[in-house]
Amino acid sequence: MSLFRTTLRAARILILVPFLFFGLKSFAQSPRSKADFDMGWRFNLGDVKGGEEPGLNDAKWRALNLPHDWSIEGKFDKNSPATVEGGALTGGLGWYRKTFTVPASSKDKMVYIDFDGVYWNSTVWINGHKLGFRPNGYISFRYDMTPYLKFGGKNVIAVKVDNSVQPNSRWYSGSGIYRHVWLETTDKLAIDHWGTYVTTPEVTDHSATIDLNIVVKNNMAGDDSKSLPMELQSTLYDAKGNSIGSAVSKNLTINYAGAATLFDQKISIINPSLWSVDNPYLYRIVTKVITGGKVTDEYTTPLGIRYFNFDADKGFSLNGKPMKILGVCDHHDLGSLGAALNNRALQRQLEMLKAMGCNGIRTSHNPPAPELLDLADKMGFIVMDEAFDCWEVGKVKYDYHLFFKEWHKRDLEDQVLRDRNHPSVMIWSIGNEIPQQGDPRSLTLAPELAGIVHSLDKTRPITTANDRPDTSNKIIQSGALDLIGYNYHEFNYAGFHDRYPGKKFIATETTSGLETRGHYDMPSDSIRVWPNRWDKPFTDGNPDNTVSAYDNVRPAWGSTHEATWKVMKKYDFLSGMFIWTGWDYLGEPTPYKWPSRSSYFGIIDLAGFPKDIYYMYQSEWTDKTVLHILPHWNWEPGKTIDVWAFYNHADEVELFLNGKSLGTKKKEGDDLHVMWRVKYEPGTLKAVSRKDGKIVKTEVIHTAGKPAKIQLVADRKNIKANGKDLSFVTVRILDKDGNVVPTADNLVNFKLNGNAFIAGVDNGSETDHDPFKANYRHAFNGLALAILQSNGKPGNITLDASSKGLTGATLVINSK
Ligand code: GAL
Repeated sequence: MSLFRTTLRAARILILVPFLFFGLKSFAQSPRSKADFDMGWRFNLGDVKGGEEPGLNDAKWRALNLPHDWSIEGKFDKNSPATVEGGALTGGLGWYRKTFTVPASSKDKMVYIDFDGVYWNSTVWINGHKLGFRPNGYISFRYDMTPYLKFGGKNVIAVKVDNSVQPNSRWYSGSGIYRHVWLETTDKLAIDHWGTYVTTPEVTDHSATIDLNIVVKNNMAGDDSKSLPMELQSTLYDAKGNSIGSAVSKNLTINYAGAATLFDQKISIINPSLWSVDNPYLYRIVTKVITGGKVTDEYTTPLGIRYFNFDADKGFSLNGKPMKILGVCDHHDLGSLGAALNNRALQRQLEMLKAMGCNGIRTSHNPPAPELLDLADKMGFIVMDEAFDCWEVGKVKYDYHLFFKEWHKRDLEDQVLRDRNHPSVMIWSIGNEIPQQGDPRSLTLAPELAGIVHSLDKTRPITTANDRPDTSNKIIQSGALDLIGYNYHEFNYAGFHDRYPGKKFIATETTSGLETRGHYDMPSDSIRVWPNRWDKPFTDGNPDNTVSAYDNVRPAWGSTHEATWKVMKKYDFLSGMFIWTGWDYLGEPTPYKWPSRSSYFGIIDLAGFPKDIYYMYQSEWTDKTVLHILPHWNWEPGKTIDVWAFYNHADEVELFLNGKSLGTKKKEGDDLHVMWRVKYEPGTLKAVSRKDGKIVKTEVIHTAGKPAKIQLVADRKNIKANGKDLSFVTVRILDKDGNVVPTADNLVNFKLNGNAFIAGVDNGSETDHDPFKANYRHAFNGLALAILQSNGKPGNITLDASSKGLTGATLVINSK
């Protein structure tokens, strides 16, 4: 039960005791335990009569661990009811069951099951008792199992997941219990689910005041005419684990039998380390609930101390310093792993974005996995946390609009309650390209939704991502938004304040550049535009459904990466941008249809290989010294080739072909790259960047010969033997001299020995229909990927890769 679905009995302001217990560390065992409940499930694809019956024999069901996405295990199918937009994979209905014991010692405890996300329409039973139904596929939810458990005995939990009515998504959703599941046990007197709310109403470089709301729930049976005495102790720890402040509140009381009471504590500190994208400094507050001298709960609230502001004229600032949010939009899938959440895979996505200079994530178009926010807190990303892709009117036949009326309040409340303690979250988005932007109904709906959010969190602005940002937009007209969000329309940014005087502005979605990694169509400066979103095929496209990686293809509503970024740089009032998208994702293969089945929008391809435009951003968004040249150097002799260079920290770049200078170029005006038009001859292409005549960086590419050997490169050679950790192994097809063969498509076979399995294979091609769960993969433009996953046992893992006619390779990974 959340704060806003319970009756609050009393609110009390408590004693402030800053800087107590300096230097102490807390090692005590919490009476609250949160156990990983991912392991040891059984799964059946297809409906089962009586699947919830505890006595059902599920011994023949498939044994698996969560998170799990059954759709990613299937075959790509042009006629999939999910449609090609939905990834051309299959939904359906599945059952999960798990038999588990709860110790007799938990008899006096509360036992909950927490699902971080199930796609979708899940129904959960414990020991045959129905706990509930939840349609939303992205929201986290909890059930109280306490009254139905056999303490000291066997229990059966059953989950029916119904993703059979299709299409229900504009992108690949995945199917199943695709995020983590937890078993949480607490005392009867404990802090409520998502029961704390931390804010920092006053922050300067020198001091901060921390305000902690705590909802305590008392599930003890008792005489309601009396109340239970209790005490709350909150201790603030710095990142090293030193206690640096506390609040102690004595002589509190709470009623019995499910009473929920809100308390308030304050802690002040001096010289706080402020959270920022460069210094994501995290504190934590540990709150103890004490009654009769016994600690009945210990609850940790994460804390980042920061202040930010969106200004109508000056844009965004963090801790008083002006900056732009340089963000990307991403969907939730993890490429060949599908929607099945893997913390390491998600971390890798964010690491690569961070290395590009990205500092913002928009969780398009739904609540993210909680781990994404944990990572964003730790790694320093600013998050725009989005709720919906539609309200009452849908975009595809069976999407969330069917549930909106009944569920939006609950879903939105839960999202805000779950996510509002994350310092990374700085914007709430209550909708993306809502089809009702022109509907007068939005004049009441938008304020209603904004009201739900603001009733739970007033510290962050609310926006919507509008593809119709003109003044007839009823969502904007309603006045509910704190920040006006434009999707695209960047050539109208200049007139923003004429339309919306005094308003704050954010580019909620931009760009939609289209690229296939490693494919180049010339001339590079002629822009191809896909004219229409849904019905017309891309008449200007390539027969093999590739798209040029020169940043010269875009849809009608979008712009190329460079064109967009040039506009973004111009306006101080623009607080930030979110590029569509950071990573390729499954589904929405604009500008093509089948046989394409995944997107072309990513700056990074589906396998995790950066497209060239990645380096344009890196040259603009980071302090790293960048010199990147494209394309590869394997062409028909005599063909005219456009050679581009992205660079920074230099005045000029000189290009040499086989030792002969092709001239020196400088970026002029707002240029983001330089270009040479070169008559191709095989050999060596060398670029040299210089500043004040001194060499800054040199970049060399050679014409590659025939494929001769395989190279395996692991992102990490040491992984944890925890059953979940991953090593991402890049497979490179090399010529005899060690150059990547940029057009190689050799079939590579994998053999794995040791305590791991191949969790997925990929190559970044948008049209490859081979399964992602396999021990083989064709290279695509010279590269492929194998993802190795620990099976839980330590030891060496050996991956052998072989391919007909090539010298194979062996890689050893250690898991501990
Ligand atoms: C936007 C939409 C995104 C995606 C994108 C493709 O209009 O918000 O979800 O469809 O277009 O360009």
